[in-house]
Amino acid sequence: MRRLDDSPLLPNHIPPWSAGVIYQIIVPSYCDSDGDGMGDLPGVVSRLDYLQWLGVSGIWLSPIHPSPMLDMGYDVADYRDVNPRFGTLADFDRLIREAHRRDLRVLLDFVPNHTSDEHPWFQQSKSSRTNAKRDWYIWRDAAPGGGPPNNWTQQYEISDWQWDARTQQYYMHSFTPEQPDLNYQNREVREAMWDVLRFWLDRGVDGFRVDAMVHLFKDPLFRDNPPAEDSSVDRWPAWNMLPAFTQDCGGLQDVIREMCEVVRQYPGRMLLGENHLPAERLNAYYRSGMTHPANAQLLDLQWDALKLRRTVDRFEGFLTDQDWPNWYLGTHDNDRVATHLGAERARVAAMMLLTLRGTAIVYYGEEIGMHNVDVPPDKAVDVLARRLPGRGVGRDKQRTPMQWNATANAGFTTGEPWLPLAPDFAETNVDRQRDDPHSMLSLYRRLLKLRAENEAIRVGRYLPDVIDSRAFVFVRHGESAKALVALNFTDRAITVEPKATTGTVLLSTQLDRENERFDGVLRLRGQEGVVAAIP
Ligand code: NOJ
Ligand code: MG
Repeated sequence: MRRLDDSPLLPNHIPPWSAGVIYQIIVPSYCDSDGDGMGDLPGVVSRLDYLQWLGVSGIWLSPIHPSPMLDMGYDVADYRDVNPRFGTLADFDRLIREAHRRDLRVLLDFVPNHTSDEHPWFQQSKSSRTNAKRDWYIWRDAAPGGGPPNNWTQQYEISDWQWDARTQQYYMHSFTPEQPDLNYQNREVREAMWDVLRFWLDRGVDGFRVDAMVHLFKDPLFRDNPPAEDSSVDRWPAWNMLPAFTQDCGGLQDVIREMCEVVRQYPGRMLLGENHLPAERLNAYYRSGMTHPANAQLLDLQWDALKLRRTVDRFEGFLTDQDWPNWYLGTHDNDRVATHLGAERARVAAMMLLTLRGTAIVYYGEEIGMHNVDVPPDKAVDVLARRLPGRGVGRDKQRTPMQWNATANAGFTTGEPWLPLAPDFAETNVDRQRDDPHSMLSLYRRLLKLRAENEAIRVGRYLPDVIDSRAFVFVRHGESAKALVALNFTDRAITVEPKATTGTVLLSTQLDRENERFDGVLRLRGQEGVVAAIP
């Protein structure tokens, strides 16, 4: 198999730390230091010891900049400062220092596609048709008979075009009208945004997650998007057209290449793009220089061993020897894994995520098995919930405060939490699971430790093993070690017969079988996953 020959385990341009586990933090929901009910940067600093203990390599922070917070900070009003609700630039510098002291890296969420409508650039742009910043955003005349210039309609089931009565033109927004899209055909825009990257790189960040990367460039001819034959092609509500001219379209890779080049000048940094695309379309992003184009194949996964095996095999098959994969199960835009799969399957899924070849991205709270939380409509803050009420599309449910302990407000805040806490926080919390050797937290910690100590799991090649409709079985093959991973997707006890006939269990999702030997057949309990050392 291709990856068994002499290709390097970790391509040279991938910073070794970035092959580890990246932990996604929703800053307002992680830890509140000042009692205002919203998490902040000093709160994150106070939890760095925990993250070091857990064993992650780096953290990705949700947007930290000044913002009206209409879309949880994905509406930036100033790219070069810190939202006062979260702290100051000095707090940020301290976070970088304290994280690096613990060998933890820090990624910021870079939101290049759009600004807030309160950003001074947009205020200037909309002040007159002749303003120097007019062309920094995408302005168009009405269609000949009146109305929006074309049919573009995306996430919010409204036209992507918003009329501006004062200057008598439409501006384009891929998300809400309060998030106008920047115009990447304009050279000044690109330079200004690359300067934003340099500003934070010079301050010591280790890279960025790049929001909405596939949206950055639109068809310069503004052609209508074609209708979708199957309107379920995307998980967003009522997507009724293929985004052929608004996403992942011609001209985009040129922008991505420039962005990557800026970051490449700073050795050891990484870019995690938000590229929710079919696997075969990620190749272009790798070729443009992205170290980690985010691979959405496991989001909202179906619990089917053969399907998952096919997904992973296909994905691995698309990569060249120079490409390093990455995987994630959940984000702030998806249901909690324990809600989607149930508690037992969530353990097997965690083992899969953390033993597949590639960077693993873990959403905060998954390590204690947090669930979606019902947020009543009058407490909803998410813009999706407020714009499309009654549709169950709100994302507050997976963004609720981290559950640290059983004290008031789960140790998250001394004030009134900005989003409701899970009703079960007294049972499901870090403190309680820390000392329980069988808890989800113990499982995550053991898996992270295994990754750190076992070369095969950390960087070994991926080899699918026996085909079995009940279990996903694969091998990781390093220079100094080999490991077998066998994941039982059924509720029943089964036996599998891996190609390696003997081995020693290193870890079970039930945390109780270490050092057990197997010979010929490997026995798995219902919904159990096992990692074993093999000769
Ligand atoms: C993707 C982010 O993950 C999502 O939360 C946000 O609403 C949109 N981009 C707009 O920035
Ligand atoms: Mg606070």
